[in-house]
Amino acid sequence: MDNLISHCATWAALIAHQKNLAQVHLRDLFALDSQRFEHFSIQTSGLLLDYSKNRITSETLTLLQQLATEAKLQEWIVRLFQGEKINNTEQRAALHIALRNRSNRPIQVNGKDIMPEVNAVLAKMRRFSDAVRNGEWRGSTGKTIESIVNIGIGGSDLGPAMVTRALKAYHHPRLRCYFVSNVDAAHLGETLAELDPETTLFIIASKTFTTQETLINAQSARQWLINKLGNEKAVAKHFVAISTATEKVSEFGIDPVNMFEFWDWVGGRYSLWSAIGLPIAVMISQDNFEQLLDGAHELDKHFETAPLLKNMPVLMGLIDVWYSSFFGATTQAILPYDYTLALFPAYLQQLVMESLGKRITRDGNRVDYPTGPIVWGAPGNNGQHAFYQLLHQGTHLVPADFIIAIESQHNLQGHQEAVLSNALAQSHALMMGRNTEETQSALDIPPHFLQNGANKSLSKEKNEKFKALTEQLPHRVFLGNQPTNTLVYKKLTPYILGTLLALYEHKVFVQSVCWGINPFDQWGVELGKQVASTLLPTLQADQEKTTHRRHDPSTEGLLNYIIKRRTK
Ligand code: F6P
Repeated sequence: MDNLISHCATWAALIAHQKNLAQVHLRDLFALDSQRFEHFSIQTSGLLLDYSKNRITSETLTLLQQLATEAKLQEWIVRLFQGEKINNTEQRAALHIALRNRSNRPIQVNGKDIMPEVNAVLAKMRRFSDAVRNGEWRGSTGKTIESIVNIGIGGSDLGPAMVTRALKAYHHPRLRCYFVSNVDAAHLGETLAELDPETTLFIIASKTFTTQETLINAQSARQWLINKLGNEKAVAKHFVAISTATEKVSEFGIDPVNMFEFWDWVGGRYSLWSAIGLPIAVMISQDNFEQLLDGAHELDKHFETAPLLKNMPVLMGLIDVWYSSFFGATTQAILPYDYTLALFPAYLQQLVMESLGKRITRDGNRVDYPTGPIVWGAPGNNGQHAFYQLLHQGTHLVPADFIIAIESQHNLQGHQEAVLSNALAQSHALMMGRNTEETQSALDIPPHFLQNGANKSLSKEKNEKFKALTEQLPHRVFLGNQPTNTLVYKKLTPYILGTLLALYEHKVFVQSVCWGINPFDQWGVELGKQVASTLLPTLQADQEKTTHRRHDPSTEGLLNYIIKRRTK
């Protein structure tokens, strides 16, 4: 237990420092330093990070830097980039950086340079995406492809779906892209209803090719295609697979020639840079896909080389550690003021929560401090009319990231000014709040009315109005002091999106190092899968189990209730 980071002197110093800073309002920190924006903002690779609206001082950063040093962050960054097997519970490297290693420097796995294989898959993706886009790849009846359906879940869905959505402005005009992930037949069924089998291409994306949801959806899609086209041979022209499991892909009935490979050193939630990005490449072109890789590589270089306190992902990671472990913040909001990033919060949920939702350290000890936060969010303007009330006046500390595009993908007069003014207004209001005096003055309640109440010198109407406003007063006060980061870029291009995604990936890595946990495994998803596999046969057989209880009484009760009411 002694090697828990929480037992080091810096951790104790941070606890003491937090006690002091907890009493300080962000508006006071700004009052103390008119250059706070200059002191607490940083630019790299087309991104600006303003972290001045955080409950930190330069002493906080010095202590957090010391913590990172105690956690050996710099050594861990080297190990990540050298391809060491830092995913210790699965004995694998975590080499998503190799997938976008545009410098092509050799990176070894088990003594072998993996870059030739990475480049070969990129070349195969180029050939295939070009062929689909220019109409050379045709369906079994000779028609060009118009619809791409990606069937996958988790990392084999969220990353490509988010990127494809975000880069809609770059889509090929003939092509439409669908992402089917949920095993509820409504998802695939609704999608198939919109499709013409002769012009549809299915991409089955699964790292393991064992994921139940994906395989059930893939089987149904295959059957639909065969039924519609009346020909099993059609599968070869309408199905391709992306996987690390060649044999399983063959067993499913997809020719390995139509398989795009990736490797066990690519984690599912870090895989959009691999062949899992194929739907992206088909929709936006391989050139643009490689721009995405270029952007990520640029950010990788920054992460690898910049000193800790001039390093954007390190700063963001340390600030997150500060809130989770020292302020007890349990949640974090992601607020894009760029509508094309609508799926970004959902993508980040997997990246952050599957990576950091852990309580056992790399060396098997139980942590005695809070780790990864619950991540959620929605495009900013929509969120304002839904959940911002809680951010402004609720009881939770909710650190938030504002992500702002200076320019939209569309140019309609008056829109972008409204987006930008709202974004800046919200982070300002969350930081400053509005105290009682300011609220009283904004409501125009005379100070003497507040002190003495109703007053004969005022008319009856005025007295009633001021009485009502005085009753409202506490409800209209804003405490402020809600911390935020603001990330700004000019316009969302593939390159900029690459930098943004790599920034968050590395931020998560920094947090994991500080907390001593492995961000690259996900054992927590196993138990539910196992239990589902024991329930499935009962549901398939449609048998009511009342005597032999294999589960808890609640689960058995629910099972019986459902089975009785199913339409046979
Ligand atoms: O169940 C979680 C998970 O293992 C994720 O980590 C992964 O991204 C997802 O399932 C899909 O896995 P696969 O790509 O192997 O189908």
